Parts: sequence; structure tokens; C-alpha cells
Amino acid sequence: MEQTEVAIVTGGGNGIGEAIVHQLVDDGFKVGVADMDIENAERVAKDCGPQAKAYKVNVADRAAVGALVDSVVNDFGQLNVMVNNAGISREYPILEMTGEQYSQLLNISVKGVLWGIQAAAKQFIKQGTPGKIISASSMGGYRVAPLHAGYSSTKFAVRSLTQGAS
Ligand SMILES: NC(=O)c1ccc[n+]([C@@H]2O[C@H](COP(=O)([O-])OP(=O)(O)OC[C@H]3O[C@@H](n4cnc5c(N)ncnc54)[C@H](O)[C@@H]3O)[C@@H](O)[C@H]2O)c1
Repeated sequence: MEQTEVAIVTGGGNGIGEAIVHQLVDDGFKVGVADMDIENAERVAKDCGPQAKAYKVNVADRAAVGALVDSVVNDFGQLNVMVNNAGISREYPILEMTGEQYSQLLNISVKGVLWGIQAAAKQFIKQGTPGKIISASSMGGYRVAPLHAGYSSTKFAVRSLTQGAS
């Protein structure tokens, strides 16, 4: 008998990630709803029923993303799809953006995607099965709106990291 496919959605507790979780559950997946905001993740998982479970994670933390994949595999048996959706949007004048502000953008929206790619791909290799990795870029990953140089640079990076992993 074939095992039900399993997905993780980071930032699954709100917005686009929440909608992706619902779609995956409707499509028959078991879904790990991973978010820094555990209350929202639990609300989304509860709405979805036993096919979904909430996990608290800060995607900027490489070890925590690895532990997330291990927990989901422990609970649901395997991993087949990783959706690196968590990301933040900030507006800063490029001449005034501080190192701290830019580091926050990079740590969550770029490194968070890299840690997700690494943890998921290692699990696919361990399982010996193909898997899918989907990451949230933006129109800002193609062109830069005023005050969005920092944000856009993270979304250009998401495209190159994800293409580089294929
Ligand atoms: N909303 C848009 O119009 C839009 C457009 C283009 C791209 N995007 C991208 O789509 C993705 C989702 O956007 P959204 O509008 O649904 O965002 P949102 O702010 O509504 O939700 C993001 C979720 O990610 C979680 N999150 C934030 N930082 C986290 C971290 N460090 N670790 C774990 N979870 C974290 C938040 O708690 C939240 O639940 C983002 O990557 C965003 O940049 C959004």
C-alpha cells in the first residue's frame, strides 16, 4: 500500500502559507504546519483535522529546521514536499538600511530558505525517494520597487538558491 505523501509548509500559520496548507490537505497530503507563531500554526492545523500538525520553528535557525524535518518524519513517516514559504517584507531607504535590519531580512528570508532546502534534500536522499522543494519568491525577485532593495535582494536570492538546488 502506498504511503500518504507528506509536506512541510514554513510560515504555514498565516496568509499564503495557510492557504497552501489547506490546498495540500485537500489534495490528500499530511502537512506539517511550521511557524514561529505556534498559536496560529495550531489554529490552522486544528482547522485541517488529523491530516495536519503544528510545529514551532524559527527558520533562521539551521538546527531548528533540521529538527523540524526530523519531527515531521517521526510523526508522519516520510517527507515528500518542502514549501519554504516563511519570509518577511520590510521597506527601508537603501542609504539608511542598517546592518541589523538587513541581517534580519537575510537570516529569515534567505538563510531560512537555504536551511529548508538542505534539511529537505538530505531527507529525500536518506529516504531514496525524489522530492519537491518550493520556495516563495515574489515579483520583487524580478524587479525592485521603491524602498524594496533589501527585500527584493532576498527574493532574487530565493530564486537562485532554489534553482541551484535543482
Ligand atoms: N503577501 C504578498 O503579497 C506576497 C507577495 C510576494 C511574495 N510573498 C512572499 O510569500 C511568503 C508568505 O507571505 P505572506 O504575505 O503570506 O506572509 P505573512 O506575514 O502573512 O505570513 C508569514 C508567516 O511566516 C511566519 N514567520 C515569519 N518569520 C518566521 C520565522 N523566522 N520562522 C518561522 N516562521 C516565520 C509568520 O509568523 C507568519 O505566520 C513570504 O515569503 C512573502 O515574502 C508575499
